[in-house]
Amino acid sequence: MTANSAAWILEPKAHPFQVKEAPTYTPEANEILVKNHALAIAPIDGSIQTRAWLPMNYPAILGQDVAGEVAAIGPNVTRFKIGDRVIGHGVGFATKRIEDFAFQKYTIIQTNMASELPDNISYEEGCVLPLGLSTASCGLFQDDHLGLQLPTEPRGVKSQAVLIWGGASSVGSNAIQLVVAAGYEVFTTASPKNFELVKKLGASQVFDYNNATVVQDLIAALQGKTLAGALDCIGFAATPMTVEVVLKSEGNKFVSTVKPGFESPEGITVKSIFGTTLKDNHVGKAVYEDFLPKALRTGTFTPAPSPLIAGHGLESIQAAVDLQAKGTSAQKIVVTL
Ligand SMILES: NC(=O)c1ccc[n+]([C@@H]2O[C@H](COP(=O)([O-])OP(=O)(O)OC[C@H]3O[C@@H](n4cnc5c(N)ncnc54)[C@H](OP(=O)(O)O)[C@@H]3O)[C@@H](O)[C@H]2O)c1
Repeated sequence: MTANSAAWILEPKAHPFQVKEAPTYTPEANEILVKNHALAIAPIDGSIQTRAWLPMNYPAILGQDVAGEVAAIGPNVTRFKIGDRVIGHGVGFATKRIEDFAFQKYTIIQTNMASELPDNISYEEGCVLPLGLSTASCGLFQDDHLGLQLPTEPRGVKSQAVLIWGGASSVGSNAIQLVVAAGYEVFTTASPKNFELVKKLGASQVFDYNNATVVQDLIAALQGKTLAGALDCIGFAATPMTVEVVLKSEGNKFVSTVKPGFESPEGITVKSIFGTTLKDNHVGKAVYEDFLPKALRTGTFTPAPSPLIAGHGLESIQAAVDLQAKGTSAQKIVVTL
């Protein structure tokens, strides 16, 4: 490992990030060290930088999405070797260890949160996957959430339906593909300009969430179907709308949501996701090891949304985070290293 450096937030709410030296890391059991070639920005990065709402150890490093090459492996690791191309979800928000964050040259990734990246997928394309994939997987497959059958390659046979609210988001793009691979039919919402995209990802029906009749339209479309539940990928005003559709449709009265704080109305469970919990249960391995590598190789799962390259080098992280905070549509902001 050559010298490490990171984009640091030196104290709460500090702006801009400061690029400085960072420690060098040695992977432990069930870990790999990744030399990062591309990083993606998530909404949480800017919101923590500006509002410091999550307790962090300062100086802090942020970021969760990496794509790069394996630089070192832990003592018991056989699945990866040095030089392998990989994507990984850095779980620093859960562990509070600086080595587990993305915005640096090297990141420690747990092996059950890493997948091999085929040669035909660039690092820029691959790095959009991990956080969206993990968050969707927690909500869809964990026993304490929807508990759907796991995704398989080849795909499972379609049985029940699942509502994915916000199919063009990063979480939603991954959720659509996971749900289809698990053998369910997808009903989703998006802006009309993204209808074609979400259908290409596998949604069978898509509705414009800006339309005043969207809830009634979804309820009508779901007549005769059995819902296995819903994933609200947006939160805020989207949550009560998702809840209403599920309450008035046949099937599992359960909504997993990306945002905390919504109290479950009578007759339905609304539960918020913490997108790193799959690292501690069977879902992490099932998705990152058993499903995704083969699905990426065969092309049945594609990295989405598409990357928007905001700059090169850790010095570009601030501009990238600021750009992300202005909002994106079916794109994920990426920095190459
Ligand atoms: N709990 C967790 O662990 C966790 C993890 C990851 C993310 N999150 C949260 O999940 C949310 C989504 O994150 P992300 O990275 O996936 O976001 P994102 O990709 O930046 O989301 C942008 C997309 O959201 C869609 N959208 C916006 N408002 C919508 C609405 N009312 N209904 C349907 N779609 C809507 C837009 O679709 P159109 O372009 O089609 O209009 C847009 O493409 C964020 O609030 C994030 O903080 C939580």
